[in-house]
Amino acid sequence: MKHLLKMLDLSTEEIIEILNLADQLKYELKHGIPHPHLKGKTLGMIFQKASTRTRVSFETGMYQLGGYPLFLSSNDLQIGRGEPVQDTARVLSRYLDGIMIRTFEQKEVEDLAEYGSIPIINGLTDFCHPCQVLADLMTIREFKGSFDGLKMCFIGDGNNMANSLIVGCLKVGMSVSIACPDDYQPPKEILDFAKGYGDKFEMTNVPMQAAKGADVLITDVWASMGQEGEAEKRKKAFAGYQINDELMVQANEGAMVLHCLPAHREEEITEKVFEAHANEIFEEAENRLHAQKAVMVKLMAN
Ligand code: CP
Ligand code: NVA
Repeated sequence: MKHLLKMLDLSTEEIIEILNLADQLKYELKHGIPHPHLKGKTLGMIFQKASTRTRVSFETGMYQLGGYPLFLSSNDLQIGRGEPVQDTARVLSRYLDGIMIRTFEQKEVEDLAEYGSIPIINGLTDFCHPCQVLADLMTIREFKGSFDGLKMCFIGDGNNMANSLIVGCLKVGMSVSIACPDDYQPPKEILDFAKGYGDKFEMTNVPMQAAKGADVLITDVWASMGQEGEAEKRKKAFAGYQINDELMVQANEGAMVLHCLPAHREEEITEKVFEAHANEIFEEAENRLHAQKAVMVKLMAN
């Protein structure tokens, strides 16, 4: 494993190795056991979109690993004035030991990996959000003990979160159902991958059907970063694609609810369901820190 560009690139074994290391690092942090695996290393963090969790968890995580994080806003980099990513990659590779990037196009992340010579970590693109889904898988395993026999149901937009969840959950052996409006389905590449899992994958435009027998329900905003101009249109298209009490009745008893955050209460999830599952949702947010530290150690140690 040289980079973390998308969940499609990871084998099941690699995912499980990251989750095991994340559990260990979480244990060590809670017990005051130092783990300076990245002493003397530097991570550049390029942000072309806003962030609370990704920025703070990578920055803190790097510090806890003994390394040094550099926050690089695209407003201040030459990349924001049109310097090609191919050149940026080759320059930054000479100063840094790794790069985390949050941007729009997946191609930009893939180009950084192709032209640079250091590990690249995808901190969210329009296509996927692998760091978030590794934290989600860590949280599911933490609460449920294992992935065996579990069903994950995603309600809403066939977006970056849906894409990564479909791939990640199928790869660790879970069943997956997704409910999204016909015009907002995940891209063909993801659906083709999922079809290879036969009846372990199901897609519908009826949320109640998708939620039947689910052990984990997940949703995300109706309008992602960069889609603010379509917010009103999307509100109409996604009406009814909400995690609420009626939907929860369809799920298995003791079903978890996750949300990558930020959440829009009374849109994709009701305040009531959100608060009833706040312990899971905020553990999920915390697990970003541990899962990403595991990724950085795997990619950047030695
Ligand atoms: N979930 C997530 O990636 O949050 P941020 O946008 O705050 O980083
Ligand atoms: N789908 C959301 C996820 C935010 C973490 C977005 O891309 O804005």
